[in-house]
Amino acid sequence: MVDIAIEVTDRKGRVSQFTGTEGLTLMEALKNQGLPVAATCGGAKSCATCHVYIGEGSAPVGLPDEDEVDLLSESDHYRERVSRLSCQIVLLPALAGLHVELAPQD
Ligand code: FES
Repeated sequence: MVDIAIEVTDRKGRVSQFTGTEGLTLMEALKNQGLPVAATCGGAKSCATCHVYIGEGSAPVGLPDEDEVDLLSESDHYRERVSRLSCQIVLLPALAGLHVELAPQD
């Protein structure tokens, strides 16, 4: 297992770096760091409390599926092409250097 370097901006604008273990979801890695990601559905793609913004120029995380877009677009804080559910992003070596920002809570 490889540790993936991640940079995160929290809701107060504080930036921190940490590593997440390959195979974890980004949501799990953020929670392991003690960051305030509620993830109330536990990764079942039904709560959107794990909403993040993918940083510009960041590693490619792929596109959300239709269900994810439907859920995210109900949020007042949805940003097209930038919003993702962190529980739907699996950490892989190709994501090293990923930068995410915690979206405001609805
Ligand atoms: S943890 Fe609920 S949608 Fe991601």
